[in-house]
Amino acid sequence: MTAKTYQDYLRVLAGQQAPYALLDLDFLDQNIQALLKRAGKLPVRIASKSIRCRWVLDYLFRASPQFQGLMTYSAAETAWLASEGFDNLLLAYPSFDSAAIRAICAHRRAGKQIWLMVDSAQQASFLNQIADAEKTQLQICLDIDMSSDYPGLHFGVWRSPLTRPEQVIDLAKQFLQWPQLKLNACMGYEAQIAGVGDAMAGQMAKNLVVKQLKGHSIEQLKLRRRRVCEALSGLGIELALFNGGGTGSLESTALDPSVTEVTVGSGFYAPTLFDHYSQFRHLPAALFALPLTRQPAPGMYTCFSGGYIASGSVGKEKLPTPCLPSGLSLLDNEGAGEVQTPLKYTGPEPLKLGAPVFFRHAKAGELCERFNQLWLVRGEAAPEPVLTYRGEGQCFG
Ligand SMILES: Cc1ncc(COP(=O)(O)O)c(C=O)c1O
Repeated sequence: MTAKTYQDYLRVLAGQQAPYALLDLDFLDQNIQALLKRAGKLPVRIASKSIRCRWVLDYLFRASPQFQGLMTYSAAETAWLASEGFDNLLLAYPSFDSAAIRAICAHRRAGKQIWLMVDSAQQASFLNQIADAEKTQLQICLDIDMSSDYPGLHFGVWRSPLTRPEQVIDLAKQFLQWPQLKLNACMGYEAQIAGVGDAMAGQMAKNLVVKQLKGHSIEQLKLRRRRVCEALSGLGIELALFNGGGTGSLESTALDPSVTEVTVGSGFYAPTLFDHYSQFRHLPAALFALPLTRQPAPGMYTCFSGGYIASGSVGKEKLPTPCLPSGLSLLDNEGAGEVQTPLKYTGPEPLKLGAPVFFRHAKAGELCERFNQLWLVRGEAAPEPVLTYRGEGQCFG
């Protein structure tokens, strides 16, 4: 099954009052299989920020033993997920939330596998102090910068200062003064490979340049990861894991012999920002519905709500995309509004006021910050609701 129509969703979701968000399990299942195949033989860590629904996290772990562990995004979230029964948690971003880190220490004492992210002595010293007071040992992962610098172009993101193996060695040596910390993991996320599309419609020249830059950067990163492994091994540090990649880079990350596991998040829901890659195309599993409430002119409809703009640099690609029925488009002058969104309509399907129309978000997990529940849809079965993080009263910023 590779296509669903407007009528398919209208039929299955008849009786639900829009706005609502839905997750198409037929598509999610196909995305799971495609992503596992793209990851090759490596274990896949699930990026919770791109899911933000406990039920879906459980569903993914049940789907395959290749899914191993979560990449979490906040310390409070990590502690909450651990108390909800999840284990093998890699918090991918440094945190100074002492209450949440104390809660994580309690989970460590209870035997949970949790790693906290560090790229500086200040972060490490802070964690060591808390772990000491909490009489436990914290496992530490170093965040290795994976950007590539070219004349006039920083190809990558600004996160960790640990770019060269000498910097990694410098920091790793300092761990002798932090006895409550066990350094045994590395992460190197190549955002410029994973998060930058190389098959943008109508941008042939740019796509070509991006592909070339990516190809060059991938080789550079392979070498960087190897040198980091060698440097740490020279200090007697054995790595339990070296995490890399994301939805957009699985093919190349999985081929790096230093990487022991890859991360996947966005590919499960497959938001619009992941439509523009030459190596894959996943199915739009997560949608949201808005009700049509007025018709300002023939060929124009206005629906309630809709301004769910994705994070990151500002651009049209961060707007939601009306997708069903076909023939709907946003207006340049208004975009997606706070409480009303006008749409131009050129499709053949007759539309009725009160009926829902369907949109895709530009990013994955952010959709769940707008809705308390996701309606699960499979075939012709009656939809069932599951709570998002927000629906469970959880908001981690
Ligand atoms: C550290 C890290 N790893 C992996 C990913 C990839 O996640 P996704 O598959 O949702 O693109 C991200 C996304 O921003 C990230 O920050």
